[in-house]
Amino acid sequence: MTLRFGIIGCGDIGQLRAEAIHATPSTTLTAVSDVDSNRAASLASSYSAQVASDWHELVRRDDVDAMLVCTPPSLHAQMCTEALDAHKHVLCEKPLARNPVECRAILDAAQRSGCIVATGFNYRFYPSIMKARQLLDSGIIGKLDHIRSYTGYMATAHSHPWMHEFETMGGGSLRDNGIHLIDLTCYFLGDVAHAQGLGSNAVWQFDGCEDNGFLLLKNKAGNIATVQASWTEWRGYRLLIELYGHLGCIRASCFPMWTQVIWSDKLGGKTQRKRHLFPYTHLMEHLRSYRWVVVQSFIHELDSLARAVRGEETQLAIGHDGALAIEAAHAASENDTPPPESKRPS
Ligand SMILES: NC(=O)c1ccc[n+]([C@@H]2O[C@H](COP(=O)([O-])OP(=O)(O)OC[C@H]3O[C@@H](n4cnc5c(N)ncnc54)[C@H](O)[C@@H]3O)[C@@H](O)[C@H]2O)c1
Repeated sequence: MTLRFGIIGCGDIGQLRAEAIHATPSTTLTAVSDVDSNRAASLASSYSAQVASDWHELVRRDDVDAMLVCTPPSLHAQMCTEALDAHKHVLCEKPLARNPVECRAILDAAQRSGCIVATGFNYRFYPSIMKARQLLDSGIIGKLDHIRSYTGYMATAHSHPWMHEFETMGGGSLRDNGIHLIDLTCYFLGDVAHAQGLGSNAVWQFDGCEDNGFLLLKNKAGNIATVQASWTEWRGYRLLIELYGHLGCIRASCFPMWTQVIWSDKLGGKTQRKRHLFPYTHLMEHLRSYRWVVVQSFIHELDSLARAVRGEETQLAIGHDGALAIEAAHAASENDTPPPESKRPS
């Protein structure tokens, strides 16, 4: 069965999502909606799709099975909830919503409808991360002990001003680039039971939005992870996650894409190491830009959603994963981020 999609929001990500839907055999694009009617018309015409008069009409259409929500985060809760109540499956872009209360409303709607809500944590489907998952599951580094993870870029690269507006985002770097990293860290750690954190906005001073967020996570077994998300990284866009086990460690980087494993047969024994470099990904990134890499991860994600709808087990991030990541991010903003009413000095 082909999953027929509607897209709400035809901006940067909506356009890449449409390209991915078109390239995924199990999915098709039926109709789109955007408050910018030119944008909607242009995207629809590229993929022979229709333009809905507004997003409320789109979620009610009988010829749509699933919605892709690609609008700014402040709109996610309302759009996801209404789509789920209209018995549509939903893949919502990250962050799932601005805060735990909005996430809860989405999860409740999913439960009411019996439909799937997935969170757009496409980094799970990057080659270096899939390799890390495979290596960890193979047992090569023994039992997982702890995780260290970092992501950062400079806020000057924000593609929209709303990315550092509290009203739209609900917070700063931990809800932006950091939300992918929180999800990856939880994905590898498993059974996260505790989160605490701190945030600082001393550099950019965006009201209510940390430019550096720091988290400590702990799972039910007592394994600990550290997470840092930054908007003050001077060396391009970086994401590195390091998984430490009793017999070795796995390091996975997304920018650039590589995975390294160092392991030993016994604690304190002679080590071996191997690096996976993903030459095809590097070549295509060079020829077609990073957008190609993103679209490939979206294709994996969409295929996983189509399989999840058929009842198969997948690595797809569901709504609970999106809510867990926001709860963790919230732990930092609750503690230390200056409240939104504190004004930036003029
Ligand atoms: N998965 C990733 O790696 C990734 C990367 C970047 C952004 N994102 C997420 O994707 C989402 C969209 O980001 P973007 O960069 O594409 O933003 P964008 O501003 O380029 O696109 C958003 C679109 O939504 C439209 N929109 C706004 N209100 C609407 C409404 N009421 N009805 C219909 N359309 C409406 C806007 O007109 C715009 O075209 C955000 O949640 C963002 O965090 C995810």
